Amino acid sequence: MRVLAIETSCDETAAAVVEDGTRLLSNVVASQSDLHAQYGGVFPEVAARAHIETIYPVIEQALRQAHVSLSDLDALAVTRGPGLAGSLLVGVNAAKGLAVASNLPLLGIHHLEGHIYALWLTENASKVQFPLTVLLVSGGHTELLLMTDHLTYQRLGGTIDDAAGEAFDKVGRLLGLPYPGGPAIEKTALAGNPHRYNFARSWLEGTWNFSFSGLKTSVLRELQRSYPNYQAGKEAPPSGMPIADLAASFQQAALDVLVEKAVQAAEQFESKGILVAGGVSANSALKGALQARAGSLPVFVPPLALCGDNAAMIAAAACWHLLAQPTTHHGLAFDILPTWALLSPH
Ligand code: KG4
Ligand code: ZN
Repeated sequence: MRVLAIETSCDETAAAVVEDGTRLLSNVVASQSDLHAQYGGVFPEVAARAHIETIYPVIEQALRQAHVSLSDLDALAVTRGPGLAGSLLVGVNAAKGLAVASNLPLLGIHHLEGHIYALWLTENASKVQFPLTVLLVSGGHTELLLMTDHLTYQRLGGTIDDAAGEAFDKVGRLLGLPYPGGPAIEKTALAGNPHRYNFARSWLEGTWNFSFSGLKTSVLRELQRSYPNYQAGKEAPPSGMPIADLAASFQQAALDVLVEKAVQAAEQFESKGILVAGGVSANSALKGALQARAGSLPVFVPPLALCGDNAAMIAAAACWHLLAQPTTHHGLAFDILPTWALLSPH
């Protein structure tokens, strides 16, 4: 079974071809992050327009690299939500156009389910056993889920304010680092002391929820105390600002909470493993800390190329839907769902 998928939920224009939900035939990602760096974040209208320009060349490249044409495919898939409305519309409309032209069934896939199914494109997939605790950490989401079987999730909790990746991006901006803040903070933190500042950790005891806005404010307060005249985002950081220590201490605080809560959930729900998915799962310190804290419990993290937004993960999720229900076809009349919750029916 071969599926071509399209993903345009945020600032990556992506298309990929996947076979049987496990084999990657092509995976093309055109990132717009250089375009958005000047704004310090994703500018929705700029993102949508860039998707329009890039989408067809990216689809053509994905087909070419997989050595297939539309007639060799069994289905098409596209990210239906959650994401930026203007961006999602470009991908969904392109996918509908291809579906009309090819007469192939089209599936509208949840972006976060895609992040989860990136794991099934790796060799580690054969080691997965359910229930699996899933820590979904991206720029828009932070969710703790219990995956009890394929395509079956129980939501344990999630962020009540900023997403983990959003906190990395906002603190990156405070520290004068380039957008996106996540990778920049990870790199900068390598040279820093993670214990120099004891930034606020929100435990939200008794729940599986997270909160990162207090941590961001705690970094801001430290900067305001030491550098009262510094205007973050508007000027270069003052010379001598201990950016590496600030980045390392922030990262440590964020990871401490993510790791501890994920492992405690895994223990309480007797999970057979922990999966970390979403853009923040690219963070090696997160991987290392989770593995160390989880002990003998297997920790699964997709390879770097599949951590960030891509269409291969959307194709993989679509394949698993087709394996479960071979006639799945969402037709041509479905709308985008910019705020789609993972567990709500569509
Ligand atoms: O999943 P993703 O590519 O897009 C969304 O669906 O949001 O996640 C992007 C987020 C950004 O906030 C980015 O800063 C963060 O993932 N990120 C990281 C790292 N790489 C990307 N955060 C921490 N450490 C990283 N190495
Ligand atoms: Zn994502």
